[in-house]
Amino acid sequence: MSKIYASFKSIGAYVPERILSNSDLEKMVDTTDEWIIKRTGIKERHLAAEDEVTSDLGAKACALALSRSGVSKEEIDLVLCATVTPDYFNMPSTACVISDKLGIRDVQAFDISAACSGFVYLLSVAKAFIESGMKKNVLIVGAEKFSSIVDYTDRNTCILFGDGAGAAVISATTDKEEGIIDLHASADGAYADFLVTPAPGTVNPVSQKVIDQGLNFVQMKGNETFKLAVKTLTKDVKEILAKNKINSNDIPHFIPHQANYRIIKAVGDALKMKEEQVVLTVDKYGNTSAASIPMAINDIWESGRLQTGELMLLDTFGGGLTWASALLPFSGKANK
Ligand code: UT7
Repeated sequence: MSKIYASFKSIGAYVPERILSNSDLEKMVDTTDEWIIKRTGIKERHLAAEDEVTSDLGAKACALALSRSGVSKEEIDLVLCATVTPDYFNMPSTACVISDKLGIRDVQAFDISAACSGFVYLLSVAKAFIESGMKKNVLIVGAEKFSSIVDYTDRNTCILFGDGAGAAVISATTDKEEGIIDLHASADGAYADFLVTPAPGTVNPVSQKVIDQGLNFVQMKGNETFKLAVKTLTKDVKEILAKNKINSNDIPHFIPHQANYRIIKAVGDALKMKEEQVVLTVDKYGNTSAASIPMAINDIWESGRLQTGELMLLDTFGGGLTWASALLPFSGKANK
């Protein structure tokens, strides 16, 4: 029997309408447009409407990815969602709600929690299910209503995050050229307190204390996370390229997690990447956690920059701490 590979067939994303600009934030906290742009590269981020929930964003991204894949919803045999802002803590899973909204029934569905590394973690799960022969067409989606866990009086975090979703269809193929080449995902829980949402959970079940102390909001050791992100991401991408004997100059699309322009620039420079190789969306979406990488892939696909067969290098870092990188061709149809 010929070996089975997992191929990246399509991409879709959803960006909520409402824009929160740096000048809006200037009116909310002690910050300036100049500081935010200089330290993060972010100009604006999109926020979901009050009645728009994570599964709404996810379902819209999934519907687009499906329509662009050539795979019907009846052929999907696994639905996976990565999110740290699920519809419910903790059931039903957001993947189950998204499946329902798409009319996908009687199919395995579950969520994973890997913060900003969520989408590349999903790729690893989809790859394992497909290569083992258990599933044929996996719908993966990173979806976040991050604004639901942001304290808009905390200038350390509220300037960074945005909402959105990005989805992809990953399908079985026997053509090695179309398959994911390599993927590396890792974690170190010793740094759990670098990025944490203290409640709700068994450590801090919902209580008056949680409300009074704002423990339901994300807390971040920004500068420590920044330094570790640059170090870890640089090492991770260098290793995956070396292992696969690929030169960084031969990567047309380096698609890093969009947390901070300075992190992306430092990693790109360490790899001697040219500006045109590095995909940047942080200026317009901010950090959308598990949605950031698929939203960035969608941007280059929609603008006609991503062609069939072209190599993508994904690289991400987030709460947990978690990190991951992947090397793969885009095996779907180009847009232009
Ligand atoms: O997605 C998961 C991974 N997440 C990340 O990778 C995020 C990593 N961290 C970062 O992006 C950056 O650390 C931040 C953008 C969050 C902060 O930038 P920084 O260069 O690390 O600044 P800092 O935290 O060292 O703070 C420098 C100064 C401080 O003032 P003092 O103590 O020097 O007087 C802060 O209080 O900047 C101040 N500051 C601000 N000033 C204006 C912090 N936030 C703001 C703000 N506006 N929004």
